[in-house]
Amino acid sequence: MPTVLAIETSCDETAAAVVRDRHCLSSVVSSQIDIHAAYGGVVPEIAARQHLETINLAISQAFGQANRSWAEIDGIAVTAAPGLIGALMVGITAAKTLALLHQKPLIGVHHLEGHIFSAFLAEPSLEPPFLCLLVSGGHSSLILVKDYGDYEIAGQTRDDAAGEAFDKVARLLKLGYPGGPAIDKIAVQGNPKAFNLPQGRIANHPYDSSFSGLKTAVLRLVEKLAAAKEQANDRNPLPIADIAASFQATVAKALSSRTVKCAIAHNLTKIVAVGGVAANTELRSQLLNAATEHNLTVIFPPLSLCTDNAAMIGCAGAMHLARGETSRLELAARSRLEL
Ligand code: KG4
Ligand code: ZN
Repeated sequence: MPTVLAIETSCDETAAAVVRDRHCLSSVVSSQIDIHAAYGGVVPEIAARQHLETINLAISQAFGQANRSWAEIDGIAVTAAPGLIGALMVGITAAKTLALLHQKPLIGVHHLEGHIFSAFLAEPSLEPPFLCLLVSGGHSSLILVKDYGDYEIAGQTRDDAAGEAFDKVARLLKLGYPGGPAIDKIAVQGNPKAFNLPQGRIANHPYDSSFSGLKTAVLRLVEKLAAAKEQANDRNPLPIADIAASFQATVAKALSSRTVKCAIAHNLTKIVAVGGVAANTELRSQLLNAATEHNLTVIFPPLSLCTDNAAMIGCAGAMHLARGETSRLELAARSRLEL
């Protein structure tokens, strides 16, 4: 059961953790969300600089909270790809330096594999096979987890990731950034059936999604409603809550129905939902209902494990280390990499 120090800096969270096999001993996440909010989204250059400012403190806090010393660390896991290149490089450079200094093996981890492993931290008794719905600001994928290290993408988005669609629609409705939580909150007051929006199906690819068309449909709807109000000289505000609720219900329906269909088609009885969008109230409720109807189990790791964190990277790293799979010190950051 290896104990690893893990580092994650692929986007806008500077994270460090100490993990022993499937148990999180500490997890420090320093979010840059307030800094990027002023720009309406993540600015890569600022993200990298901010990681540089914060990484050392995050690592020492992770050690402190876990009450572990370097002597008890068997390896250093770090997110190597995919992500913002400058941001990734900060984490990788820190990990390589520490690996050299303390003579520990380095383990480069794929960010998506990390997300999958958040499921093992949430449910240490979980074993493959299962289906993983990964929905975040950067990804929207259905991943068949056949075995440890054996994954197949069964479906993905053709354009915007689910979280990206939430963020763009929220910006359109002037609800602020990040958009997911804002839409989730205001949707409670709206009617999810007020407007009919397209689910973004892709012909002959039942598990793929397109959220860009949905976003454009919301834009056209807002333009149409605004024009009608102007013509009628109506000064009431637009029905923002109804639009948000309808958009959210459409995304939830698209994702939950595709996920359940995919699980059934591949004879999988367990579904794990991870990533920031998996926090969405409507998605959770629709996925749980659809899965229960077909006798499928759904695991929702807690939000702290769903959003970007280093503990999930450490859990995947511990598995690779136990199998003797380590990286060379030449490990390079890659902005894109297949799982
Ligand atoms: O996993 P995450 O923290 O970061 C990565 O993108 O890797 O996901 C962030 C995304 C953002 O787009 C945010 O708007 C969305 O997750 N999000 C939500 C909710 N909470 C966060 N989307 C819908 N409903 C939520 N409650
Ligand atoms: Zn992520």
